Amino acid sequence: MNNFTLRYLGHSAFFIQTPNAGILIDPFISQNPVANFDYTKEKITHIFVTHGHSDHLGDAIIISKNTGAQLITVFELALYCQQRGANALPVGLGATLNFDFGNAIFLPAFHSSSTPTGEYAGCASSVLLDIAGFKIYHAGDTSLTQEFKMIKDVFAPNMALLPIGGTFTMDIEQASIASKWLGAKYIIPMHYNTFDAICADVNKFKIMVDNEEQKCIVMNANDQIEL
Ligand code: NI
Ligand code: MN
Repeated sequence: MNNFTLRYLGHSAFFIQTPNAGILIDPFISQNPVANFDYTKEKITHIFVTHGHSDHLGDAIIISKNTGAQLITVFELALYCQQRGANALPVGLGATLNFDFGNAIFLPAFHSSSTPTGEYAGCASSVLLDIAGFKIYHAGDTSLTQEFKMIKDVFAPNMALLPIGGTFTMDIEQASIASKWLGAKYIIPMHYNTFDAICADVNKFKIMVDNEEQKCIVMNANDQIEL
């Protein structure tokens, strides 16, 4: 037990609570039909955003503005958020960023990125959080990529959150290969069934992933697990 919890808010949105931090990732909440999360009732300290598409940037700006939480994202998107009143920290891929809760590093994702108003938002990214030595990798939106092999070699994540919905990202076949390449003990599927375009058979995905070394944990929106 590492003394923190991971809550799934639906789509690619997660909320991690540690004794001192409340961390949102890709907080697509108010427009997300299955999310049931009231940020005014939680302590939010950090918001990580993988790219500018509205189903990932979501409510990040308003939450940062209203709570003062630091919004951490790729340079161009961070400037866009700053201009709209967010407490945004512009970063690039590859640097280890230190926080009170542990550290984070932005890594590649093979995808596009633009702001909700159509501006260039820098590159799309994924993010690896190291919380008290437990490493959670959020893949953002991406295709299958060799980068997963590098991420296993260099970082060896304990848990990977992977998009499986197809159309805009990996589908279940590609994501099952990604889970093997990443080698994480726990695989959590995301970015599926929110819209008709990203329907996926999550039970089939679980069967493809589960083996002696790896376990697929299917979370329903608003489920929480203790880590
Ligand atoms: Ni996207
Ligand atoms: Mn998306």
